[in-house]
Amino acid sequence: MIVTVTANPSVDRTIDLPGPFSRGDVLRATGVRSQPGGKGINVSRVVAEAGLATLALLPARDGDRLLHQLDAAALNYRTVPIDDDVRTNLTLTEPNGITTKINEAGARLSAAVLTQLTELIVDAASAAQWVALCGSLPPGVPADWYAVVADRLHAAGVPVAVDTSGPPLTAIAGARPELLKPNAFELAELTGDDGAAMEGAALLGDVTRTAGAARTLAEQTGGAVLTTLGAAGALLTLASGSWFATPPRIAIRSTVGAGDSSLAGYLIAQQRGGDPAEWLRTAVAYGSAAAALPGTTPPTPGDLNLAGVHVHPVR
Ligand SMILES: Nc1ncnc2c1ncn2[C@@H]1O[C@H](COP(=O)(O)OP(=O)(O)OP(=O)(O)O)[C@@H](O)[C@H]1O
Ligand SMILES: [Mg+2]
Repeated sequence: MIVTVTANPSVDRTIDLPGPFSRGDVLRATGVRSQPGGKGINVSRVVAEAGLATLALLPARDGDRLLHQLDAAALNYRTVPIDDDVRTNLTLTEPNGITTKINEAGARLSAAVLTQLTELIVDAASAAQWVALCGSLPPGVPADWYAVVADRLHAAGVPVAVDTSGPPLTAIAGARPELLKPNAFELAELTGDDGAAMEGAALLGDVTRTAGAARTLAEQTGGAVLTTLGAAGALLTLASGSWFATPPRIAIRSTVGAGDSSLAGYLIAQQRGGDPAEWLRTAVAYGSAAAALPGTTPPTPGDLNLAGVHVHPVR
């Protein structure tokens, strides 16, 4: 079972515009979609589509519209009740492919709710092969909360995967997570490098710089580092070696949630056995399948082009 934690879930509302976004005007939507959002929920949806057991943990009021959406998607979840509504994250899409995102901060979690959520995670973890801690932390949650949760999970012998950014990412690195999934910019934040330069070089097939930064981080955490590099693919760094994988050629629809699908793909493959190259291949195939689907639609095994992913060892 793969347990995911989404401390700051959302309802993702996507509005399609008929032309360029123009500030100050009245704009008419040509389409609108509302999908469950939040990184852990995205990971759980992909894992469930692959036919593996998953449980999504989140704070939400009983009857919240997000929970209706999760029920409609038949997703297995457990909540800690809160008073506020789950936030709405708005995406405006233009026909030229440019998207504008407006994210609310999210409902503030009290110390009591946070304690309940921590205990729920530790309780659910007894049946877990992995616990994935995903996304930003809402107001009221200290930046080191993931590190606190990781310590509890490690005491129970459960491996921890983390996909976050900013201060929570900096704080988790010292808590020795078994897997970190930064993108190039998040990796650069941690190691003081230049994310755009790393992604640019990777697009030309040169991952020397990214591999060096990822190795520094992997030495610090003692775990695996899966660095996703957008259109360039992804790099996997373990103590035993590094591998770079290039993605299949795809027609991009929406990269929102692509990184979440990469993380799900890695965990799915890892749980099935295989070797690091196979875990990386599956991660990249899932990320690219997500990028080829609209909105945050979770890719299914039938959407994957595993043969289109090329994996190379990195020295
Ligand atoms: N243009 C693209 N072409 C092919 N694959 C892509 C493209 N963009 C993204 N991907 C796939 O998606 C994966 C994850 O992308 P990226 O590194 O942008 O994640 P991210 O920044 O964590 O995204 P998010 O946090 O929004 O989910 C890549 O490793 C790759 O497999
Ligand atoms: Mg990401």
